[in-house]
Amino acid sequence: MPTLLILNGPNLNLLGSREPEIYGRDTLQDINDSLAKAFPQITFQTFQSNGEGELIDRLHQARGQVDGVVFNPGAYTHTSIALFDAIKAVALPVIEVHLSLPEAREEFRRHSFITPACRGKIAGIGAHGYHLAVQALIKIIEG
Ligand code: DQA
Repeated sequence: MPTLLILNGPNLNLLGSREPEIYGRDTLQDINDSLAKAFPQITFQTFQSNGEGELIDRLHQARGQVDGVVFNPGAYTHTSIALFDAIKAVALPVIEVHLSLPEAREEFRRHSFITPACRGKIAGIGAHGYHLAVQALIKIIEG
């Protein structure tokens, strides 16, 4: 029974009401609930923080405790070398997820510091991207 961490960064606690035309109407709780329903064989841990240090601490805590991580780093995607380092340090398979397609938006969203540390990336298809990321991790874990 794989254990996966669903990790979400800044402002994603406001999903549902935050710019719904970009991010959709599902809340973060809706997304986490839909994952638990769709993948009853997986044990999910979920964590959201608006703080970079807390996300780093949670990744460290996941080391040896989970089999993989689905990570939407929010705007830290475009700024955080520390999160890149944390992903490398914990040596877990991480799938980067974005609800929107950052590359198709403002110029400052085109670069991700996170991608080079990740096993894969899914972006631009809304909340369903979290489901595809879980499927990808199952495939990676089961080999
Ligand atoms: C996001 C994309 C980021 O550019 C943005 O800062 C977010 C959300 C997404 O899920 O589409 O906060 O990660």
